[in-house]
Amino acid sequence: MPGKTGGTALVTGASAGIGLEVATVLAERGFDLALVARREEALSALAGRLAAAHDCRVAVYPRDLLEDGAPEELAATLARDGIEIDWLVNNAGVTDVGSFHELPLDRQLMLIRLNVNVLTELTHRFVGGMVDRGHGRILNVASLSSFQPVPSLAVYAASKAFVLSFSESLSEELRGTGVHVTALCPGLTRTDMVEQAKHADGPLRMAPDFLIGDTRDVAAQGVEACLAGRVVVVPGALNRLQASSVGLYPRWLVRTLGGFMSRRG
Ligand SMILES: NC(=O)c1ccc[n+]([C@@H]2O[C@H](COP(=O)([O-])OP(=O)(O)OC[C@H]3O[C@@H](n4cnc5c(N)ncnc54)[C@H](OP(=O)(O)O)[C@@H]3O)[C@@H](O)[C@H]2O)c1
Repeated sequence: MPGKTGGTALVTGASAGIGLEVATVLAERGFDLALVARREEALSALAGRLAAAHDCRVAVYPRDLLEDGAPEELAATLARDGIEIDWLVNNAGVTDVGSFHELPLDRQLMLIRLNVNVLTELTHRFVGGMVDRGHGRILNVASLSSFQPVPSLAVYAASKAFVLSFSESLSEELRGTGVHVTALCPGLTRTDMVEQAKHADGPLRMAPDFLIGDTRDVAAQGVEACLAGRVVVVPGALNRLQASSVGLYPRWLVRTLGGFMSRRG
């Protein structure tokens, strides 16, 4: 196991997928954990496994983060439980594939609330304490789609562009405070979210298996980058190539290609 680190990490969306693996990697690195998601059974099972395997403390906070006041209530409950957050992992997120004008509006607005508003509010509620204590890490899960428009994932891609921009700005604002912010930008990763998206109309239907990354690799690279104080991490060589080359092409070409892929899907 790599060197032990320590402190307490709050991981949202820890009941499955990338969040579950981030929690696991952090437990291996010696962190205590506070885990959030809606599915209490999945959270409790993970907590039991991690506490037994890594001798760490794991508290579960089953919550729907979309309920009114949930982020505020979560922060208050953690404070009441005497849990100081050294790492915040803003991972909980949803996607919705399809034509914007055909998808239900309430689902699109809910996506923005979870991917953008909840992430922003949780960051605000915990970053002040980190700055006061002179140390902290915030790992925001963005996406490869943060770098470009993605027809059929229009609102999702826009929400993830927000996460990348917000994380980069914040990392500069916080320079010298001891608090570091990292945007983890995975490409397609094998989780429930992608399995569902692959069965919907849109560009993901055509995604070949070799392009779909491993959840554990993505989580490990995110945690390592955050520990190292890196601001942006894109797991996978092909994904890094895509992220860095998007800016070299005219925007009209990038969005036209995206539209073509989306119509083919
Ligand atoms: N998979 C990919 O290809 C991919 C690529 C780039 C970025 N990402 C990003 O990675 C993050 C994790 O995605 P994933 O693929 O691991 O998805 P996932 O397997 O569907 O997991 C999503 C997690 O978010 C939680 N969640 C969803 N709605 C919630 C709510 N209202 N309140 C609290 N928790 C909620 C879910 O738990 P409950 O259902 O128990 O609430 C689950 O733990 C997301 O931000 C996603 O946008 C994923």
